[in-house]
Amino acid sequence: MRANKFQRNIFNYLGEDNDNDVSLRNFIRRKNKKVKKIVGVPHPFIKWAGGKKQLLEQINKYLPKNFNKYLEPFIGGGALFFYLLPNKAILIDNNEELINCYRVIQNKIGELINSLKKHKNEKDYFYKIRSIDRNLVEFKKLSDVERASRMIYLNRSCFNGLYRVNSKGEFNVPFGKYENPKFCDKENLLAVNTVLKDIQIINGDFKECLELAEKDDFIYFDPPYQPISATANFTSYTKENFNKEDQVRLFKVYEELDNRGCKVMLSNSYNEFILDLYKKYDLKTVHAKRAINSDASGRGQIKEVLIINY
Ligand SMILES: C[S@@+](CC[C@H](N)C(=O)[O-])C[C@H]1O[C@@H](n2cnc3c(N)ncnc32)[C@H](O)[C@@H]1O
Repeated sequence: MRANKFQRNIFNYLGEDNDNDVSLRNFIRRKNKKVKKIVGVPHPFIKWAGGKKQLLEQINKYLPKNFNKYLEPFIGGGALFFYLLPNKAILIDNNEELINCYRVIQNKIGELINSLKKHKNEKDYFYKIRSIDRNLVEFKKLSDVERASRMIYLNRSCFNGLYRVNSKGEFNVPFGKYENPKFCDKENLLAVNTVLKDIQIINGDFKECLELAEKDDFIYFDPPYQPISATANFTSYTKENFNKEDQVRLFKVYEELDNRGCKVMLSNSYNEFILDLYKKYDLKTVHAKRAINSDASGRGQIKEVLIINY
């Protein structure tokens, strides 16, 4: 395969000799493996609460040696997906706005970049764009490209760069006051567009993976975590929160995939309820720095679990 224009841009960016037969995915995958982290591009195009970037090195130790296709039913920012760059993959999330971003990057990258370039890093402008979802009639008038552009802009210029909605589904993070937030990271967006080429992207509940997973596929579940304390509850990725019944529902899906001969990995908090639910599987402890809670005990190094069936 001869490198196309986007790929040559990426090779140039990475400072590599580019004018030869080389598959972009294999190339970046090799590079990722070598440095054990996400290299320059592509990387997650959105900052996401609970993102797994900082855990990649620990997760890397427990990845299956080989697998057929890759499924990630709680894709979020997709840190592990961008690390692995699998050739065959299915990405799922129930956050409609997030999945719209993935699809627009996959299919309308030029329009998206043009739209992102028009945003301004100004407080009044930020609140004007943020307020569009307070009026559903106005919100529904936005095109898919405008919605993706709004989401990426708000994510980059809001405080702490995260996505959080209130019980009405309204984006509610304040203006970040950053000097020069990069809301149009063209180089990375082009790279993400290239790696999403043949990837299936689904907006739906995690259980959709049962329709698609086959023996020897690798499924990585990274659900909203079971809170470790009453004050440590960040589950507002959508207006519906993820509760204990959802964790049990997820366990049943995990078991069914296990029975089917799939390789399954799941991340969660180090919590008695979770440890007990998955007690028949192999539990690995990992350590993460979390700073999402206002409660001081929620900061610093905390224990998390990786549950694997292989
Ligand atoms: C912990 S985050 C995933 C973070 C991701 N691994 C990363 O590296 O950015 C959990 C994700 O699950 C999604 N989610 C919540 N409930 C869901 C459900 N019932 N089905 C599918 N996705 C869901 C949220 O929208 C969120 O993107």
